[in-house]
Amino acid sequence: MIELRNVSKRYPGPDGGTCALDGLSLTLPDGEFVAIVGKSGSGKSTLINLIAGIDRPSAGEVVVAGTAVHTLDESRLASWRGRHVGVVFQFFQLLPTLTVLENVMLPMDFCATYAKAQARERALRLLADVGIAEHAHKLPSALSGGQQQRAAIARALANDPPLIVADEPTGNLDTATADAVLALLCGLARTGKTVLMVTHERDVSRIADRVVTLADGRVVDNQRMPTRQAAQTQAECHA
Ligand SMILES: Nc1ncnc2c1ncn2[C@@H]1O[C@H](COP(=O)(O)OP(=O)(O)OP(=O)(O)O)[C@@H](O)[C@H]1O
Ligand SMILES: [Mg+2]
Repeated sequence: MIELRNVSKRYPGPDGGTCALDGLSLTLPDGEFVAIVGKSGSGKSTLINLIAGIDRPSAGEVVVAGTAVHTLDESRLASWRGRHVGVVFQFFQLLPTLTVLENVMLPMDFCATYAKAQARERALRLLADVGIAEHAHKLPSALSGGQQQRAAIARALANDPPLIVADEPTGNLDTATADAVLALLCGLARTGKTVLMVTHERDVSRIADRVVTLADGRVVDNQRMPTRQAAQTQAECHA
């Protein structure tokens, strides 16, 4: 479960700075595919960065699966993040000088979660799971945008984290490729992972389990979507 209690985030600056989150409280159960929507500047990226431990709140509490993330010092935060959170960005952010396979192995090296040979085998399997096994030994620049995002998702899964956080993962993809990436993320939630995705995709409520709407740094709507027929959801996730 993810719990934010009275969370504020203020960025300092002239005229008193910016209040990106304003006393926000939110509870999210495990295992859901959650879409976070709202206008530009409403605080979506700030929110998921706090949940992922990429950034810290100015006030309030952020508790993820029993860990009070806001209380961790830098080194504990880095090691917690490495094992518990997989992050997917809009612009993929693969390291350009490493092969796709090496990119996926990196988080495992970093956290020393698997022995080298095991990490390699696991990375190859993850690349196969996201459908790009044949591109494992190429540099990221040789892949299409959709393939790079699949590689980034495989990298996010490297340490088998219970939480995947994605900030506009389809923002840089064409519609068909975006649908495939959404289906992949939805499928991860079906395997029990919690997936938080910031998105501007308009018909996301069709596929998300929950839609959280932000405005001016607060939650203005938090809706569980009607439960679908399992078969239909399965079909959508694998569309
Ligand atoms: N590093 C920063 N320094 C100062 N202000 C910031 C910083 N990051 C975000 N902000 C401000 O905080 C507010 C919320 O920003 P945030 O990036 O969370 O919005 P968003 O909902 O993700 O927007 P978008 O849809 O455009 O990505 C905005 O007013 C933004 O200008
Ligand atoms: Mg943003």
